[in-house]
Parts: sequence; C-alpha cells; structure tokens
Amino acid sequence: MSKDSVRPARRRQSRISMRAIAVITLALCSFVINAAAHAAEPGKDAGAATNLPRVLVLATGGTIAGQAESRATGAYKSGQITGEQLVQSVPGLDKLAKLSAEQISSIGSQDMNDKVWFALAHRIQQAFDNNEADGVVVTHGTDTLEETTFFLDNVLKGDKPVVIVGSMRPATAVSADGPGNLYEAVQVAADPRSRGRGVMAVLNDKIEGARLVTKTNTTSIETFNSPNGGPIGYVDTAGGIRFMAQASGLKRATYDLPANEPLPRVEIVYSHANMDAVPIEDAISHGAKGIVLAGVGDGNTSKQALDALEQAAKKGIIVVRSTRVRSGFVTRNVEVDDDRYGFVVSEDLSPQKARVLTQLLIANGVTAPAKLQQAFTATW
Ligand code: DGL
Repeated sequence: MSKDSVRPARRRQSRISMRAIAVITLALCSFVINAAAHAAEPGKDAGAATNLPRVLVLATGGTIAGQAESRATGAYKSGQITGEQLVQSVPGLDKLAKLSAEQISSIGSQDMNDKVWFALAHRIQQAFDNNEADGVVVTHGTDTLEETTFFLDNVLKGDKPVVIVGSMRPATAVSADGPGNLYEAVQVAADPRSRGRGVMAVLNDKIEGARLVTKTNTTSIETFNSPNGGPIGYVDTAGGIRFMAQASGLKRATYDLPANEPLPRVEIVYSHANMDAVPIEDAISHGAKGIVLAGVGDGNTSKQALDALEQAAKKGIIVVRSTRVRSGFVTRNVEVDDDRYGFVVSEDLSPQKARVLTQLLIANGVTAPAKLQQAFTATW
C-alpha cells in the first residue's frame, strides 16, 4: 500500500477516533449534569443533598424509646425502640440534616452509669475530631438527663452543638411528646448558631443550658426548667430557633476523662431535721473520696453532721456544701466557716451536678480548696 493511500486511511481513522472521544465526552458531561440536577432537586431525597448539616443521633434508651404494653394503662418499659427507629418515625427530619443513628445503650436513665457516660463522651469527641458530624443529638431518659448533660458539658472539647433530648411520655402514648422533642433537638443540633453554647437539653420547645437545667416535675411534659436563670433559647417547628443571647464564647473549663471508668466515688448526703452523723460516717466507711451535702437552706446541716464533715475533710475527703433547695446560690462563710473547715460551696450547682464536678476534679488531681472553689464558680 503506497504512503499516499496510507495517509487518507490514517486521516479517516483519526477522524473516527476523534468523533468517538467527542461522543464519549458529551455522554459523560450529560451524566454529570443530570446527577447534579437530581441531587439538588428539592424534595427528591433531600436527605441525600450534600449541603445539609450532618447530625449523629446516639441513643441510650429512656421513655422517648419507651413502649407501653397497652394504651389502657400508663405502664410502659423504657428503652425498647432503637435510635434508628426513632429517627425513621419522625417525618421531615431528613429535610433538617443528613442523619445517622447509633445505639450506645438501651436503658432507663435511672440506670445511667459511668460506662455509658464514657462511651458517649468518646463517641461524640471522635465524631467531632474526625469531622464525621456537624452536631450530635443524644436520646436519653429524663430521670438523669441533667446529670449526663452536665457531665458531657464538662468533658467535651470543641464548640460543635450537642443536644440531649428525652420525653415524658412513651413513644406509644396518646400525644407522645418524643417525636416533637426529637425534631426540635435536630433543629438545634443542625443550626450553626448553636455552636459555642455547650451541651444543651431540648424538650417541650425550650433550649436549656447544661449548668442550670433540672427536672422539676415527676410527670409533666414541661418538667425541664432552669430555676436560676431560665432557658437559653426557644425552638418550635414553625418559628424555628430563638436564642436569648449571643453564644458566650467563653472557653468553658473542661476536664480530661480518666483512662478508665468508674469515676471516683462521691456520695450525696441529704440533710433533714434531726440529722445525725451516720450517713456521713457510712460514706467515709465506703471509701468516698468526696461528700456533697444536700443541705437545708443555704447548705446547712446539724452540728453533729457538721462535725462529721469536718473529720472527713481532715481525712482529705473533699466536702462540698450544696442545698436541697431548688434555686438560689450556696454562699461561703455565712452560717458555716468554710475557710476554717476547708469546705467548698457549690454556688448554684445542685447536689447531683456538684457530685459530677467533684468526681471530675478529683479525677484530674484538683484538690487544693482554692482551686476547687474556683472550679465551682460559673464563668458566664
Ligand atoms: N425510666 C425513666 C428514664 O429513663 C423514665 C423517665 C423518662 O425517660 O421520661 O429516665
């Protein structure tokens, strides 16, 4: 075959391959354009849209996951429904965030324990450190919800939102409050304005801060309140989120988790009329490293009990005066000479939260009275 005849043949070949490349390129481009259009199409798998914040739901149990045997009675068992099922059961969640759910435990929160606390703290920190999530929601029983909220607020590093949510009625109850609470919790966890506000509790249209929130009623759905300062914001499905103040931006003090649980033993001793030293002596004999007094009034107790607390402090046991009274501050050196006894006062922290902070302080080797007292003073 002469060179000339070879040339047209080659030219024809190169024209065919150029056309083939063009056709393939065009096909590829239209595929990419289609895929992008589909993903961004509102309402179509909006949960898969790449621009939604990522919210990780960690389930621990509680009434929000509770199931009643029959609607006739109020009896139910908590922790029966999984986090995945809870997420699937609330319409519209996938329009708020890209959700993933994991089961940490399935317990009533009266059984909450250090093992679950450590698992929650490690998983949340890992999710933030590895940029797996923009916010976290923890579904939880209400009985100890305030303690878990406060514990996590004191050990988590970073400013991404963590929201603890529960409910007062089981998922199977008439007018269950769980689905609405979970929807609002995801709204808050997905909102960038929630950053830098510490761990929050969201129930019944209110956003409560970790330090102040407490359960104030045994059965009412409006049970969670912050007697010493009120909610930090409000949320509802129609009006969205309204925070009452800018994020403080204050670097919260946080404490390292010990390598292993359990946390140091700290007992709460409840004071009352005709109080003697027995509960304090029991705490000491069971190896308490700290004793929190749920005192009467401004953190007071009987002389007998005070003398026993003085002996405990002399043995190096950390003594914190808190109060059984639901609001107000416990003040140093009013009726009790804290400086002389070497006691700490809990300020506005309830006995159950003072216990958590005392555990973390001991675990982090903070034992000097002045340093301990500084740790209890809120940095608003
Ligand atoms: N079993 C209690 C708990 O899990 C019920 C209270 C609730 O979750 O509302 O805390």
